[in-house]
Amino acid sequence: MSINIAVAGKGGSGKTTVASLVIRYLMRNSLGPILAVDADPNANLGESLGLSIKQTVGSIIATFNEEKINIPPGMTKEAYLEFKLNDAMVESKGLDLVTMGRGEGAECYCYPNLLLRKFMDSLAGSYAYMVMDNEAGMEHLSRRTTQNVDELLFISDHSVKGVRTIARLRDLITELKLVVKRQSVIINFVPDKIDALVSEELAKLGIEPTATIPLDEAIGEYDLKLKSLLDLPDAKAVRAVDHLMAELLETEKVYTTKT
Ligand SMILES: Nc1ncnc2c1ncn2[C@@H]1O[C@H](COP(=O)(O)OP(=O)(O)OP(=O)(O)O)[C@@H](O)[C@H]1O
Ligand SMILES: [Mg+2]
Repeated sequence: MSINIAVAGKGGSGKTTVASLVIRYLMRNSLGPILAVDADPNANLGESLGLSIKQTVGSIIATFNEEKINIPPGMTKEAYLEFKLNDAMVESKGLDLVTMGRGEGAECYCYPNLLLRKFMDSLAGSYAYMVMDNEAGMEHLSRRTTQNVDELLFISDHSVKGVRTIARLRDLITELKLVVKRQSVIINFVPDKIDALVSEELAKLGIEPTATIPLDEAIGEYDLKLKSLLDLPDAKAVRAVDHLMAELLETEKVYTTKT
């Protein structure tokens, strides 16, 4: 079974960036094969990874609904769509990417989400790691699409509001009894050290950050030029994520041998 890593947090806190740097770490340490999953309807993980997307789960469903497709006899619509989802897969060396995208019109994302989840479950044995980028907010949790996660990385920006968002996400996970093996809190965009007001809020909420990621000009530059974060040199933020991953995977090994 693959080890599932997912990110969650407030809008703009750095979820896609961290997901990309986690993938960078796994690839550079030859820990693949990896399945990257972009579950944010406003998809941009592909751009951060330098992969171009032709189809998404949403666009495949839309095409299916618009065109009168003859499903082979004996096949259900669901089975046909699941089979078609392979077209939403972008393959590269050691790393594949599947993108949820959005459906057409006013429909909600429930169906693309459900199909994506099923697709991921069917692929669980084929990859050493799955890394899932999520939309901002809580919906992916309340819809239970972020399930069976081994490592949930809560990303907060360097603000009281970001930290409060994490506390709410944490409470929702408990309330919904979602299956999450371990939760880690990461504070991103940290200047030199965590501001006293942010530290105070963390203490008040009983949150101890596992890692901090510094504000790093190299990330901004790569983002602006649409360069793949996988090609980032040994920048400050990269080092922070590498260190976090080495630590998490060290204990993940302990988990795996125990179970
Ligand atoms: N440590 C960092 N240093 C400098 N810039 C950063 C850092 N982390 C993220 N950024 C920049 O901040 C912006 C937001 O990051 P990102 O897109 O990863 O956030 P997000 O949480 O995925 O956003 P959304 O909620 O819209 O999906 C991007 O322009 C990114 O390049
Ligand atoms: Mg994002």
